[in-house]
Amino acid sequence: MVAGAAGSSAGTTDRLAELEARLARHDLKDIYKDDLPTPCMVVDQEIFDANLKKMSDHCSKTGIHLRAHVKVHKSTEVARRQLGMGAIGLTCATVAECELMSQAGFHGILLTRQPTSKNNIARVLALAKHDSTFGTVVDDPQVATWLQDAARAENLRLRTVVDVYAGLTRHGIEAGRPALDLAKQVDSSKNLKLVGIMGYSGTAAHTHGFEERMKKSRTDLSGLLETVAAARSAGLPVEIITGGSTGTYNVDSELKGLTELQAGSFVFMDTGYQKIGGKNNPAVFDDFGPALTVLTTVISRRHPGQCTIDAGNKALLKPTDEVKGRADVKVENQGAEYGLLVWKDGDRDYKIGDRVELYPSNLDMSTNVYDRYYVTRGERLVDVWPIMGRSGAAQR
Ligand SMILES: Cc1ncc(COP(=O)(O)O)c(C=O)c1O
Repeated sequence: MVAGAAGSSAGTTDRLAELEARLARHDLKDIYKDDLPTPCMVVDQEIFDANLKKMSDHCSKTGIHLRAHVKVHKSTEVARRQLGMGAIGLTCATVAECELMSQAGFHGILLTRQPTSKNNIARVLALAKHDSTFGTVVDDPQVATWLQDAARAENLRLRTVVDVYAGLTRHGIEAGRPALDLAKQVDSSKNLKLVGIMGYSGTAAHTHGFEERMKKSRTDLSGLLETVAAARSAGLPVEIITGGSTGTYNVDSELKGLTELQAGSFVFMDTGYQKIGGKNNPAVFDDFGPALTVLTTVISRRHPGQCTIDAGNKALLKPTDEVKGRADVKVENQGAEYGLLVWKDGDRDYKIGDRVELYPSNLDMSTNVYDRYYVTRGERLVDVWPIMGRSGAAQR
């Protein structure tokens, strides 16, 4: 328990404020998981550290770089540790994520979604002004023209990567002639600096089975690699070829097409990724361990074979989530603030007040509804890492 929590003579009725004050002072002595308000996100530091080391070792061994995607964790503390272990930069899905990381002093940031609004273009230029290593992708000649005009007005040169279609229809210009023409346009734009080609094969990422994933990634990246070859033959500078994901980290390094990986989920993992199967273990993709759980509390226990926890739809509980240590327990949504756990083994009931940890199904979505990671070693709290704003301006 939090020291002094029981029978404190201070007379305060606001226990949460007391806990918050201690966290703000980083006075974490004798604070345990059991003291935390639920539902909340908990990071197992040992598993997290091992995940970072595994990716770092993989990159050193194979010669591929990591430009780590921050969309899954939205945390400067996680990013700092990745950069400390050799990542050459960060990839971000939104301008707001880029701003957060740039304001933290990080370099080599690449925005992987092209900016198309007046608002986003102005902010991208501000990021480039603040840090000349910042860059963005484009997949449309119109956007390249807008960026050129905006960069000229600011009198700066914006690092630009051409985003080429790689199997995911949401973005990426068609490989071959259209992509090559766009690369030429960027290269000949005085205020843009062509630095490379991106292709994100999001469908390969979650393809089940290592061999199937290899096949899918090879197919998805073929057009991109032909475009790279054509661009180089045309004398265009292609310094980086960026793409990849947690699911394809060891596929893409074998295929030898990309110079860098944009993997993100490996830091924590989720149940969706575990099911895709690994190279060495076809049943479970266990190259990286499940470092993140949602900690919940049993709040009602009135019917056999089921109990209610305090995490429901608002906590983005999903039937595909899994219960740590109890593969037999099924998760069901019951309501905004309520979740149902259901099981068959009457000898292994939960008791009211029990703490239950859940592995989320989709990291990006779940981390988005929490404001911090409670970092633990065993039951003990060892750190608290803020998660970027969940709503309002910080999100956009
Ligand atoms: C463009 C891009 N690159 C990389 C990633 C990282 O993928 P993962 O979290 O699967 O490692 C994502 C995730 O959706 C992405 O959108």
